[in-house]
Amino acid sequence: MSQDVQDMFGRIAKRYDTANRVLSAGQDTRWRKRALRMLSGDQLCILDLACGTFDLSIDALSIGKASNVHGADFCAPMLHAGKSKRESKSISACAGDGMQLPYADASFDAVVMAYGWRNIDDPKQCLAELVRVLKPNGQIMILEFFKPTHWWPRLFYGTFGRFIFPLIGGLISGDASAYRYLRTSIQGFYSCQEAEEALNCCGYHNIKWQSFFGGISHAVSATVKEND
Ligand SMILES: C[S@@+](CC[C@H](N)C(=O)[O-])C[C@H]1O[C@@H](n2cnc3c(N)ncnc32)[C@H](O)[C@@H]1O
Repeated sequence: MSQDVQDMFGRIAKRYDTANRVLSAGQDTRWRKRALRMLSGDQLCILDLACGTFDLSIDALSIGKASNVHGADFCAPMLHAGKSKRESKSISACAGDGMQLPYADASFDAVVMAYGWRNIDDPKQCLAELVRVLKPNGQIMILEFFKPTHWWPRLFYGTFGRFIFPLIGGLISGDASAYRYLRTSIQGFYSCQEAEEALNCCGYHNIKWQSFFGGISHAVSATVKEND
């Protein structure tokens, strides 16, 4: 599974940003910034997990949430596609798997992740790994497409997600299957309620939610529980 996902992102890496802008009608950038503002504090040392082409890293710096960002992604072509965007910015990059990160314990004030969690083979193992690399009281913010439970997101994914995204995403990237995977991966992922249960049982509290475009996308933030 993870090898297929890695290969798929490798195939669409060069056109990934363009497809995102077109398919979200430019809204994805606004959502990333609003989601980042859920983190408390500024000038944090941040890990951007599943960073792709560094859009979230760049936004974290531009709005002052981060002083420096470490981007990790297991798909080298995605990191390469974003290389010129991070040049001359306080963003470092490394190839790494979200279930076993190449960082020491307690390295970061916050971990952020946009549209990556759904792709990770074991989302709970990833949450546990993030507890390890976060400092005490560290924060996470995850922006994601969760399995829809209400009529509007269901309708949206059943129409746009099913027909329009593979058509337009396929035309831009040359790989319609990657945009069919978008919908199936959302259907196979946690609902918001299931995500909250996973966060609770993996050592997080203070869980807060924000919804975008009537529930098409959500951001969730949480803090690592202190040891008793
Ligand atoms: C939809 S893209 C999101 C990229 C970026 N965060 C953004 O907002 O545009 C998902 C990314 O997750 C990465 N990814 C998927 N599974 C991963 C894993 N197990 N470890 C690290 N990165 C992973 C993919 O390589 C891809 O770059």
